[in-house]
Amino acid sequence: MQRLALRWRREGKRVGFVPTMGYLHDGHMSLVRRARQLAGKQGIVVASIYVNPTQFAPTEDLSAYPRDLARDKSLCRDAGVDVLFFPSDAEMYPGRNSGGYSTYVVEKRLALGMEGNSRPTHFGGVTTVVAKLFNLVLPDVAIFGAKDWQQAAVIRRMTRDLNFPLKVVVAPTRRESDGLAMSSRNKYLNPNERKQATILSRALKLAKEVVTATRKPINADLLKKKLTALVATQPAARLDYVEFFDGQTLQSAEAVTRGTHMALAVFVGKTRLIDNGELR
Ligand code: PAJ
Repeated sequence: MQRLALRWRREGKRVGFVPTMGYLHDGHMSLVRRARQLAGKQGIVVASIYVNPTQFAPTEDLSAYPRDLARDKSLCRDAGVDVLFFPSDAEMYPGRNSGGYSTYVVEKRLALGMEGNSRPTHFGGVTTVVAKLFNLVLPDVAIFGAKDWQQAAVIRRMTRDLNFPLKVVVAPTRRESDGLAMSSRNKYLNPNERKQATILSRALKLAKEVVTATRKPINADLLKKKLTALVATQPAARLDYVEFFDGQTLQSAEAVTRGTHMALAVFVGKTRLIDNGELR
């Protein structure tokens, strides 16, 4: 991969990169389309598929994570991906369980709240694998989804802090027709859970309505209570967190106004889903 990438560099080709964990859906493919726009017709679009073990805690769904490489390959081919990079664990982390791999990249500020609070080892795995992927693919631009807002913020910070010579672009969240954000993990939901899973986008919608109905700032704890009650109307749903914050700095907001960002995580049955959006 890196040998190819170095050749593209020498040839002056622009490289757009979309890292994924596969089981691709239209959210992923929208990032691929954006990569093509940004790389140009003469440029190269690289997608990667790697279910990164270091971003899963031992109790999480690493072994259950859905995979369908044959289907992913054909989606990438149809979308005009030039190179699909799908390394193995042995290539990415040779000897990780026997002391053969021991370097990690950790962002120590933006990675702390929300997802970082519920999944303390998660972002260290994400920044480590994304740093490795950046060094392998050597992209000019890398595209991430707004669906994982905190992840995108952490990666943008890592890219700046460690001087990776590339631009990070964030593309909008793609949704199903009933509002559910597309996610590979939606596959875990049974039909009953699938219906109740719209509670995340409905919570965002309610928060937007509350915030836009008045010019006055709303107390964050009060709004949290309202949303907690809304989520509780779904028997299969259990709220993990809901937070209000500045979309750029991720600083938490006590007063919620137009433009404040909201993120939430909800267990629907055993499946943990996340969503977020700007309240405007
Ligand atoms: P994965 O969950 O496969 O997501 C890959 C990329 O697709 C991420 O940038 C994510 O934000 C984006 N994405 C997912 N669902 C989306 C949707 N509904 N609309 C728009 N974009 C969406 O995120 C990861 O993998 C991993 O953590 C990774 C960055 C690849 C590192 O292992």
